[in-house]
Amino acid sequence: METENAQAVAEEAPEKEIDLTPTREILDSLPGPERRYLIPTLQKIQNVYRYLPEPAMKLLMAKLGISKAQLYGVISFYPQLLITEPGKYIFKLCYGTACFVKGANIIAEKIYETYHIHPGETDKDKIFTLQTASCLGNCGAAPMAIIGDDTHGTIDPEQTFALLKSYEDRKSEAEEVEEAAQE
Ligand code: FES
Repeated sequence: METENAQAVAEEAPEKEIDLTPTREILDSLPGPERRYLIPTLQKIQNVYRYLPEPAMKLLMAKLGISKAQLYGVISFYPQLLITEPGKYIFKLCYGTACFVKGANIIAEKIYETYHIHPGETDKDKIFTLQTASCLGNCGAAPMAIIGDDTHGTIDPEQTFALLKSYEDRKSEAEEVEEAAQE
């Protein structure tokens, strides 16, 4: 069922112009067409595009000689592999035991109240994609989360909104450069 869902979402996602040059380079660099290269190749492709675009997946399937069902069966097994473009920030919320008892579920509720997203979803403005993790390896600082490249420990669930708002208000380097150029 998961596989069918992943496949359906990938098919429904509107195709946008994708430069497939990096995908071709990644595929050309493979030592052979063996399936054992599938997961590392998916990771490399995701590192380029931040998700796994359908046109890139078509090239990958042809290269490794695998079916769509096989490919999306693997993808659906790994929550970190994304079949749709994520928001500007990936909010990885720890759902391990220590974080859960310290309020990770309340944080998830606050995120839903504000952005209407469940784990695996992206808000309509494409700012946050929520993911959960089993343990982020720092249980002493529960509840833990990683937002973009930043690690946050001992998050106060009641202050989740303020924390997220601080990211919403941040401008990317590209946006700052663009604004400076217009001044
Ligand atoms: S359970 Fe959350 S960091 Fe370990």
